[in-house]
Amino acid sequence: MSDIVPTPTPSRLGVVGAGYVGLTTGACLAHLGHEVVCADVDADRVEQLRRGQIPIVEEGLSEIVVAELASGRLSFELGAEAAATDTDVVFLCVPTPQGADGGADLRYIEAAATQIAPVLKPGALVVNKSTVPVGSTKVVEDVLQRNDVAVVSNPEFLREGTAVHDFLHPDRVVIGSDDRAAGERLADVYAPLQAPILITDPASAETIKYAANGFLAMKISFVNAISAMCEAVGASVDDVVEGIGSDARIGRSFLRPGPGWGGSCFPKDSKALVKIAADYGYDFTMMKGVIDVNEEQKRRMVAKVREAVGVGPGLRLTGTKVGVLGLTFKAGTDDLRDSPSVTMVQSLVAAGATVRAFDPTVEVAPTGPKAQLLAGVELCADPLSAATGAAVLVIATEWPEFAKLDLDALAGVLVPGSAVVDTRNLLDPAAVRAAGLRYDGVGRR
Ligand code: NAD
Ligand code: UDX
Repeated sequence: MSDIVPTPTPSRLGVVGAGYVGLTTGACLAHLGHEVVCADVDADRVEQLRRGQIPIVEEGLSEIVVAELASGRLSFELGAEAAATDTDVVFLCVPTPQGADGGADLRYIEAAATQIAPVLKPGALVVNKSTVPVGSTKVVEDVLQRNDVAVVSNPEFLREGTAVHDFLHPDRVVIGSDDRAAGERLADVYAPLQAPILITDPASAETIKYAANGFLAMKISFVNAISAMCEAVGASVDDVVEGIGSDARIGRSFLRPGPGWGGSCFPKDSKALVKIAADYGYDFTMMKGVIDVNEEQKRRMVAKVREAVGVGPGLRLTGTKVGVLGLTFKAGTDDLRDSPSVTMVQSLVAAGATVRAFDPTVEVAPTGPKAQLLAGVELCADPLSAATGAAVLVIATEWPEFAKLDLDALAGVLVPGSAVVDTRNLLDPAAVRAAGLRYDGVGRR
């Protein structure tokens, strides 16, 4: 991170919401040399952050937060108002979950805008970093009712697990504003990144965010559909991906077959994209297909587990012991939101299976929402405990440590002749078979 040259013109910035996006944004903007007030409504979270404790798993974030707290450039406050008091630019980084109609629920955005409106400095800039439907810049303007304040769209493209790196080394920064001066003011804040900056109108910026996520989800659904085809025709998806990914027009990224895409963004944003299109009269059948393939892929993984233990679709799995390695939606994060692993585990538990699971970021006795998501699942302290006595072991998240498992030790605790269902194609099939286990991956012969 030493390649960043601190800004010669620091601003005083506010960030509303200290979650995956807000905390990363606040900490990284302080790292760029700005003075940042990061505010959240969660009092426990604010207290924790003031002590330099990070409430999420995100590589490199703790170091920056601790360093910037010490530098005095980063502070944490309770309530959105604090982020807008005496600050020049205020970033909205609050949730936009899926609403009942499939579209984004803007209630947190509207609440945050309502809270900051009375305290915003004259001439302040409000930046919408949350992922919001086309037209939301205007929604924020309408809530603020402040003619002296400009509102710009600035979608965020960071990935969980690599959020700090992605924020500090973006492929581009997208700014949507009809007010060129306001857009350039925000561009100045990002100047130390030396990244390409694209200033568009707000509708284009808002569309870029959904189009990017939709396109990436499409790539993964495509390769997952190809993996199903490979299984049917007896081809190897590893070779197919190598063969198509080496075509520069296609590229290798986001072509890893898996248990279906999940997380806090792709699932809700893909549905929101369909909804936005429909609201404006376009039936986005292609995106609907991308979503359908993803649901199908998740069902295919459960079918693989059933096949491994010889219990057909619709039949109860009572008495079947399943070991699951990985619960988060991907490696590198502690986030369980829309995790394909959690969907699978819930389906297995509902069918009567006994599920014992291990994930390096999920505590053995989770509380709150995590405990609800994992109701009926016995959490274990290590992979071998999760595998002990199981008739099938599922690799559900690609944590690197799972690739290094002692397969002989695993075979020693699993029921003899058990299968490994490797939904991430993480293991070497030959090595698994050499340990006396059966192997089923995704699209692998
Ligand atoms: P999050 O749930 O991790 O964090 C949101 C935070 O906002 C929470 O800590 C919450 O307490 C706080 N909050 C809610 N209302 C508030 C208010 N009125 N005042 C102060 N704090 C408030 O959410 P997230 O994952 O950071 O996502 C935020 C937005 O960014 C969403 O629109 C999301 O779609 C988008 N986004 C997320 C990612 C990602 O990888 N998570 C990436 C790009 C964009
Ligand atoms: C995504 C976008 O990548 C990011 O730009 C946006 O800001 C937020 O949403 P994130 O959800 O953190 O980021 O994770 P990402 O790495 O994109 O993975 C999303 C899902 O796709 C995960 O479930 C992951 O396992 C899956 N995936 C990803 C695959 O199955 N195969 C791949 O090749 C890549």
